[in-house]
Amino acid sequence: MKIFIDSGDVGEIREAQQMGAIDGVTTNPSLLAKAGKPTKTVIAEICEIVDGPISAEVLATEKEAILREGRELAKIHKNVVVKVPLIDEGLKAVRIFTQEGINTNVTLCFSAAQGLLAAKAGATFISPFVGRIDDAAGDGMELIQQLVTIYQNYGFETQVLTASVRHPVHFVQAALIGAHAATLPFKVIKQLTRHPLTDVGLAQFLADAKKIPQ
Ligand code: E4P
Repeated sequence: MKIFIDSGDVGEIREAQQMGAIDGVTTNPSLLAKAGKPTKTVIAEICEIVDGPISAEVLATEKEAILREGRELAKIHKNVVVKVPLIDEGLKAVRIFTQEGINTNVTLCFSAAQGLLAAKAGATFISPFVGRIDDAAGDGMELIQQLVTIYQNYGFETQVLTASVRHPVHFVQAALIGAHAATLPFKVIKQLTRHPLTDVGLAQFLADAKKIPQ
């Protein structure tokens, strides 16, 4: 499973990249607002750090404007993936981006029906928001299972990018289901390496090592 970091923070992205943990980056307007720099500047910086798909989201909501904005984002770097909201106008734009060879990440997916339509439009990635579904008393991972099954049933090449991941269990469940990718906040990436028995075991080894004759 590909692991992406869900962040607009260049410091976090650099550290995750140094851990060898990440294959790409996803951003959204809320994350980029925290970065405090223009979107194009941050996306260009991220592309210098990580050699993989880097999702940058359009703000437009009408087909022609989405196309204009997405083409500009795609010019920043060959690895830029244009992130488009899952609305009718967004799907019209995705169809054209696909014909133009521009990779897309269709975001804000909350149902299998939406995800199927995104695949029909030719989306490179679909981003189902599992954490936000859980927050609304739904079962986010059930949607991941449904999309993986539907895409396999019909041979769609669209990759299921598990998004809105809140904790390590989401990550492991996505891998067990066979999702193509998951995008994780830096906090969750750090949680993945942690285990109390690792800490206890290391402390014991280091203590015992002091007894080894020099
Ligand atoms: C995905 O691409 C989104 O940027 C992100 O995963 C949303 O996560 P949130 O629900 O924690 O904001």
